[in-house]
Amino acid sequence: MKTTISLIKADVGGYPGHATVHPALIETAEAVLTAAKNTGIIKDFHVMGAGDDLELIMGHDKGVDSEEIHGLAWKAFENSTKKAKDLRLYGAGQDMLSDAFSGNVRGMGPGIAEIEFMERKAEPLVAFMMDKTEPGAFNLPIYRIFADPFNTAGLVIDPNCHDGFRFEIWDILEHKRVFMNAPEELYDMLALIGAKSRYVIKRVFPKEGHKLPADEPVAVVSTEKLFQIAGEYVGKDDPVALVRAQSGLPALGEVLEPFAFPHLVSGWMRGSHNGPLMPVSFRHASCTRFDGPPRVVAAGFQINNGCLVGPVDMFDDPAYDMTRMKAQNIAEYMRRHGPFEPHRLPMEDMEYTTLPKVLKKLEDRFEKVE
Ligand code: F6R
Ligand code: MG
Ligand code: MG
Repeated sequence: MKTTISLIKADVGGYPGHATVHPALIETAEAVLTAAKNTGIIKDFHVMGAGDDLELIMGHDKGVDSEEIHGLAWKAFENSTKKAKDLRLYGAGQDMLSDAFSGNVRGMGPGIAEIEFMERKAEPLVAFMMDKTEPGAFNLPIYRIFADPFNTAGLVIDPNCHDGFRFEIWDILEHKRVFMNAPEELYDMLALIGAKSRYVIKRVFPKEGHKLPADEPVAVVSTEKLFQIAGEYVGKDDPVALVRAQSGLPALGEVLEPFAFPHLVSGWMRGSHNGPLMPVSFRHASCTRFDGPPRVVAAGFQINNGCLVGPVDMFDDPAYDMTRMKAQNIAEYMRRHGPFEPHRLPMEDMEYTTLPKVLKKLEDRFEKVE
């Protein structure tokens, strides 16, 4: 029997502002999922908060895109939205873009990372959750984990990793995808995924000949673009990802290693600034300085017949102190640019802008320069 792990998230209200998730929302979602676990719809779950995002991770056997599981997540978000409204939390129901559930949460606001696979004898899995950024923020770490031998020693010295992996890359603007092989097509792949606001890694697969089936993903990233779904800006698409580890896959430490570099990502303050991605523990997942800086938390589990043994708060570790310090130095450096690029995003990527109004106001005063 295959197991499915579904990580589904939504911002249904922050407190204060967009900083963090109120404990009452976590309790409300837990009540919905506890009832579902008792009736056997899901085998296990954990409800977590990352910044202002409510995160549900569920183990079950219903496969990906299951109406029952997505409906359950929608119910948990709906009830939490009601609670957020009662408490007058900030932006209550922000990511609930539709009034009624229609079979699948895809395109309705929440972000989803789901994997279905045959469990190995022991199945380690890490759930990553980011706040104040976009799905392309996962491009660099996922690339490093599955394609960079300077990150993943296994690509060089483990015979089971040595052939590399297969990447599914989405063009999120044109809604197209392409499958590419690493290491054979590394340079072509980097030409795409380096443009991270448009080309995002959606999934990674083992290649034919690997000891794991070539059609069962070993990593998946949420790629929902809220502003494209709604046709207007209604909140950012803070992304989540699931990554399986060990035994023919990158080791747990190779999966966590890319986050020791606080790379620059888009989405800080008003979804319109670049800043460093800081790995933090769950208790440090509230976004404060300039509504950030962007953060990533990681929950580690062993999967046991669909049950989630864990979580271990993976970045609650002094081994990441230097990264956090570096992130703060970078945050300070970037902040000193104020409204100037490259701290502020290029015009076309900003989610807030006054530019059309300013240009309109100056329309008559602009003169031709020969
Ligand atoms: C939200 C976020 C914040 C908001 C900012 C303005 O996830 O990134 O930086 O964009 O706080 O929010 P509003 O427009 O709701 O006052
Ligand atoms: Mg919010
Ligand atoms: Mg958020």
